Formats: sequence, C-alpha cells, structure tokens
Amino acid sequence: MSVLERVGLSALRRIDPEAAHTLALRALRAGLAPMPGPVTSPRLQTTLAGLTLPNPVGLAAGFDKNAEALHPLSRAGFGFIEVGAATPRAQPGNPKPRLFRLTRDKAAINRFGFNNDGMDVIAARLAKRPCDAVIGLNLGANKDSPDKSADFATVLNTCGAYLDFATVNVSSPNTEKLRDLQGPAALSELLNGVMRVRDALARPIPVFLKIAPDLTENDLTDIAAVASKTGVDAIIATNTTLDRAGLHGPHASEAGGLSGAPLFEKSTHVLAQLATLSDLPLIGVGGIGSPDQAYAKIRAGASAVQLYTALVYGGLSLGANIVRGLDELLRRDGFDTVADAVGTGKKEWT
Ligand code: FNR
Repeated sequence: MSVLERVGLSALRRIDPEAAHTLALRALRAGLAPMPGPVTSPRLQTTLAGLTLPNPVGLAAGFDKNAEALHPLSRAGFGFIEVGAATPRAQPGNPKPRLFRLTRDKAAINRFGFNNDGMDVIAARLAKRPCDAVIGLNLGANKDSPDKSADFATVLNTCGAYLDFATVNVSSPNTEKLRDLQGPAALSELLNGVMRVRDALARPIPVFLKIAPDLTENDLTDIAAVASKTGVDAIIATNTTLDRAGLHGPHASEAGGLSGAPLFEKSTHVLAQLATLSDLPLIGVGGIGSPDQAYAKIRAGASAVQLYTALVYGGLSLGANIVRGLDELLRRDGFDTVADAVGTGKKEWT
C-alpha cells in the first residue's frame, strides 16, 4: 500500500462509510490513486464462460454501482469488473444511514436497496467504457416494480450491447421479495425471459446467476438444475448474508446484508456444494481478503473469484496484491495454470 493510500484510508475511516465511499470513487476518477495496470501471467490467464481473463480476480458488484469509474478501475489490476446493480428506473434506495463498518470483524452491513442512476444513464456511461477490460453489469429490479422478474430482461436489453457479461442478481436481501425469485418456478420464468433477450443481442454475452449464501442444500439442488436447464453460463456464489453469528461491535444487529471476513466460510461452503451439484463454471465471492482465501475459493471449485469489502479495509491495491500472491501460491503448488487448480480442494469444504 502506498503512503498516499494509507493516509487516504485512515482519513476515510473516520467519516461516515457511505460518504467515504463516494469520496474514494471521486479520488479514483480524479486519478489520485496509483494504478498498477494489467496484472497477468501465463499461470493466471484463464477463461470463464467463453471470456478471456488476464487473471481470475474480479471486482464484485456494488463497488461502482453507477459505472462512474470504469476507466480507473480497468487499470486497478482486476481480471474483470462487475458494475451495478442497475434497475430500469433510477431510484434513491433506502434511507441513510444504510452502510455500516464492522471494523473488528473486517466486515460491513449494507441495506442500500439498489440505489442507482437507472439503466439509461448507466448505459450511456458503459457506451464510453474502456475496451481493453472485461466489464459486466449486475442486473436488478425496481423496488416498486409490478413485475420484478421482467426488470432484469429490460436492463439487459438496454445495456447488453456494451457488456462482456451480465449477472442476474436475485440474491440481494435489501429489496423485498427479491430473494423469493430464487425459487425454481419463478427463477425458470425469469431466466427464460433474460435468455430470450440475451439471444437476441447482436453480440450475445454470457449470463451469470448470483445466489445468496442463506440457502439449503435442497435449494441449491433446485437452483443448479434450473440454471443448467435455462442455459445460464455461470453461477456467482455468493451475495451478502442475513446471518449474524459471532459479530462484534455496535452495528452487528443492523438490518441488511453482511459481507466481508465473517462471510468467508459460509460462502465457500455454498460454493463447494454447488461444485458438486453443477457442471457450470462458478465464481466465488464472499470474505476474500488475502491470496490464500482467493486460492481456497478456487480450490473449492471457483473458476474465478470476486471481492469488495476487504478493499474498504485494505485499499484498492489489495486487489492487485491478491492477484500477485495467487500467482505465487499456484507456482508453489506446481500448477501451470489456475484452471488446473479449480476444484482440487472441494472435499475440504463440503
Ligand atoms: C454489495 N453487493 C452487491 N451485490 C450485488 O449483486 N449487487 C449489488 O448491487 C451489490 N451491492 C453491494 C453494496 C455493498 C456496499 C456491499 C458491501 C456489497 C455484494 C457484493 O457484490 C458481494 O457479493 C458481497 O459483498 C460478498 O463479497 P465481499 O464483500 O465479502 O468480498
């Protein structure tokens, strides 16, 4: 971490978390953060659902909800970037405060509720995206939508031309009834609608499904079956959790989704379960804060990983450091490519 980043982080930690994030994005756009550029190696380069990635470590959805910092983020060393969630219409989200730091737990609780500028504004920003990065969009539904299921296809239809992938996010805990769309009948209908739009794009892109960690093995079995039947290209496991086990500090009982270190075990267990239930490529997310944890997700069955909350504590440069550390771990264990390591430690997590 550079001196500038250390000073910046410690200043940001003293102010309201949402204001700090807005400032951090502003600093990024102003070019104040040093950027490593692409981080890759023959070992790290990989493919995911037909996409070629310079490395398998991605930036998770929610960090750049409105696609405002695509150019600086494309030079931050991530192998791929997911922006959003975007909904058809702009919406303010839940009342503030709605983001809480749990510093002792290296965690966060958020109940943003899909605050975003809406798909038209976000599509205009995506149209000016850098072309040398892999960029996807997290699709969401408006809080007051009469047909939440249709919203996902609507956003894809508007933004799809500017994307390398899109993610159906039915796993945010902060929009009422959204997680109900993970049930098999509702999920089939939703995904069939999204796939129809995807197939009609001039350049069809892979569609990922992002799931919650708070699901039983039966739920996961159903989801894996629906995902493969409807032609989903990969599953992202997982979003934030409603679980509050073992937390410290005054914000532990805030409503919303918990992310960061305490989510690591649960989300990795879900990932490994899915790896035994599904042949689809998996993307592991939840609690990654070190190269070892990125490597553990890959060995549990992830073809690629994503992170967000650890960046709040470790700075954006943590992303590139995790990529470099992962390369070293693969070399240490004799893997010529990251793909060779995928799933090699699945049994330890199921
Ligand atoms: C998120 N996450 C998220 N996920 C998603 O699919 N759509 C979204 O809009 C958001 N928004 C969002 C905001 C904030 C403030 C946080 C902390 C998280 C979830 C995120 O992408 C990821 O799945 C979880 O945070 C778990 O990973 P980490 O943060 O533990 O690495």
